[in-house]
Amino acid sequence: MDISIQDLGEKDCVCDVLILPVTEGEPGRYRFLGKPAADAVRKGFSRKFAGRKNELFAVPAPAGFSAEWVLLAGLGKKHGISSESLRQAGGKAVSYLRSNGVKKAALSTAVVSSLKLSPAAFIEGALLGTYSYERYRTEKNGGAVSRMTILSKPSADLKRDVAWSKAVSSAVSFARDLVNTPANDMTPSRLAAVARGLKGRRLSVKVLDRRDAERLGMGAYLSVAKGSHEPPKFIVLEYRGGTGAPLALVGKSITFDSGGLSLKPSEGMEKMKYDMAGGAAVLGVMKAVSEAGLPVNLIGILPATENLPGGSATKPGDVVRAMTGLTVEISNTDAEGRLVLADGIGYAKRFKPAAIIDIATLTGACSIALGGEAIAMMGNDGKMMGKLKACGDTVNERVWEMPLFEEYREYIKSDIADIKNAGGRTGSLVSSAYFLKEFAGETPWVHLDIAGTAWAEKEKPYIPKGASGVGVRLLVELVRGIKK
Ligand code: BES
Ligand code: MN
Ligand code: ZN
Repeated sequence: MDISIQDLGEKDCVCDVLILPVTEGEPGRYRFLGKPAADAVRKGFSRKFAGRKNELFAVPAPAGFSAEWVLLAGLGKKHGISSESLRQAGGKAVSYLRSNGVKKAALSTAVVSSLKLSPAAFIEGALLGTYSYERYRTEKNGGAVSRMTILSKPSADLKRDVAWSKAVSSAVSFARDLVNTPANDMTPSRLAAVARGLKGRRLSVKVLDRRDAERLGMGAYLSVAKGSHEPPKFIVLEYRGGTGAPLALVGKSITFDSGGLSLKPSEGMEKMKYDMAGGAAVLGVMKAVSEAGLPVNLIGILPATENLPGGSATKPGDVVRAMTGLTVEISNTDAEGRLVLADGIGYAKRFKPAAIIDIATLTGACSIALGGEAIAMMGNDGKMMGKLKACGDTVNERVWEMPLFEEYREYIKSDIADIKNAGGRTGSLVSSAYFLKEFAGETPWVHLDIAGTAWAEKEKPYIPKGASGVGVRLLVELVRGIKK
């Protein structure tokens, strides 16, 4: 979608549809459009339309308008309107326009500006909402809005906000593509190739293979790779844009999780291609941050492998040694995420990071507890968790803290090794995080479980069905707030 800013009145933009965001129950505030248009809006309100949140209503454009239609986009009651309302309205509007074959749209900014909000949020929702994954379709759906003109003075602020929204949504689409791609194509090697493609002046990429990982003592990570013929790739990205200790992001990158010998039921197993959504989010963040040239230091780590039950697969009861030296009894080969993250975190520590944040589709229990509405968060760094909470509210990728009581240590006590990888069924959202905590040690660390949010079973206003790209906007917002 091509975005431009033009200092034109609502009447004068040559396009198919003029989108007019409106507040709920205030049919009288559109006099700025001139009488015929204000009357048209009033007409909309005289039918069922009330301007409720995410409500849409198309009216033929009044005489004298260059557009053919006016699309009233409800924002809800005035005091409840936030950037998120605009994002949702943007997403809803473009899906509506797509299904009606509309190509050229314009956005009236008068109401949005009067609410002291940036129209860039609407654009962000529109960009996120036009996403569709069609790589394997012979006949492409096509049909998305191709041009959106923002009717406003092209102020420096607006241009900057729009550019940022474009960069962020393109990083989200990039992550969604990686996750939606089936596991036969999105292998660890492919993921490594994609990471290499991000290389730039300040961004270097290193890929460790099985031998390198062996030399580094990554027994936990390698134990997961044993059952597959696909070579594991431990991917490391280093972005140097600032000074000081880096922030390290570790993303779970299981390109397919069959469960290993602790095999998953076949029903729903096809969805387990999304078990690399954490890694995809980290790549999305690295892309956005390096393209924007943010003045920070950032490490991205993706321990990538498949989890398959091949003849040489790890067996339940096997004991391995992780990079940090801890021995782990693998009581369940389906609890593989924490194994690869244990060595991801172990490797991250070599950079002496200011903090480590891991992001992972780690537990089914996460989606049982929170559904698709929140990311579960646990960690040893209250300050960082506070920041993530605030960023999550800003971008509406909300996080919710769960406890890491010392008592959970009992859940993962092994009779034979330092620790075991799977506690019982109860409390598995928190015991999985407690496992990771043992590897983070004294390093400030936060764990984000995105098992419930990384895949949308049903479409949302600006998230089509499938991979959501969750984590990209949250972490980019966090990184943006890091002071030089
Ligand atoms: N990738 C899964 C978690 C998952 C399950 C994500 C369903 C999304 C939907 C993870 O590797 C896993 O299998 N976790 C197990 C852990 C258990 C064996 C301790 C789980 O949550 O069932
Ligand atoms: Mn698993
Ligand atoms: Zn998994």
